Amino acid sequence: MIINHKSTQFNIDESFIEAFKSDISEIQELMAEYRCALMEIETKFRVLNEQFSLQRDRNPIETLKTRLKSPESIMEKLRKKDLEFSAENVEKKIFDVAGVRVICPFIDDIYMLCECLLNQDDIKLIRMKDYIKNPKQNGYRSLHLIVEVPIFLQNEKKPMKVEVQLRTIAMDFWASVEHQLRYKKNLPEQVLEEMSFELRECANISSSLDYRMEVIKNRLDL
Ligand code: GTP
Ligand code: MG
Repeated sequence: MIINHKSTQFNIDESFIEAFKSDISEIQELMAEYRCALMEIETKFRVLNEQFSLQRDRNPIETLKTRLKSPESIMEKLRKKDLEFSAENVEKKIFDVAGVRVICPFIDDIYMLCECLLNQDDIKLIRMKDYIKNPKQNGYRSLHLIVEVPIFLQNEKKPMKVEVQLRTIAMDFWASVEHQLRYKKNLPEQVLEEMSFELRECANISSSLDYRMEVIKNRLDL
């Protein structure tokens, strides 16, 4: 096959094109499977929210977000790990292709939802990082889970990995703002240091806000 590109001619081997096409369709299929896994986890949280809101008359989930990692950032992550872009490497080496973020009013809601999810017999816990009990050095707090959930295809039951991040509204506010600030480039060292200090202070304030809200909730027995 000959491809004309800006008046330059390339000779491209047919077998290369065929291999490329089959790789692309394999990746597309895999991405569709991750979308199904996201739907499964999203539904589980919606069901828990529904049940809890009937029992307690309030919602333990304020916002539920899902996202699929873009092929560009998957490629970039594999490149950093010195791995080639293949469906096998994506499945085995990247755990956050499918992501669910659960934002809750109270810290208690986070642990309650986490426990309910992990008690379901089709969910397998792969990894848990509790950045609420052990915040990151910069002040970041959230509960992170990597779980495996089965999706049911035509002739197959396939376990898929999903990253679940659970946080309070205050934790989400801090993380979203910090994420934006982090991308400001070329700041002098001293400004960076001051900014890190300020961000840690803000994280402490946001954490004490969460605990005070928790106390009010418990007083009202909600
Ligand atoms: P990756 O960072 O995704 O490669 O994986 P990891 O194994 O280091 O995972 P970890 O559980 O520590 O963090 C995964 C995700 O949590 C990130 O992609 C962010 O969405 C979020 N996160 C972790 N640390 C921070 C942080 O310091 N600030 C903000 N804003 N988000 C963070
Ligand atoms: Mg990530």
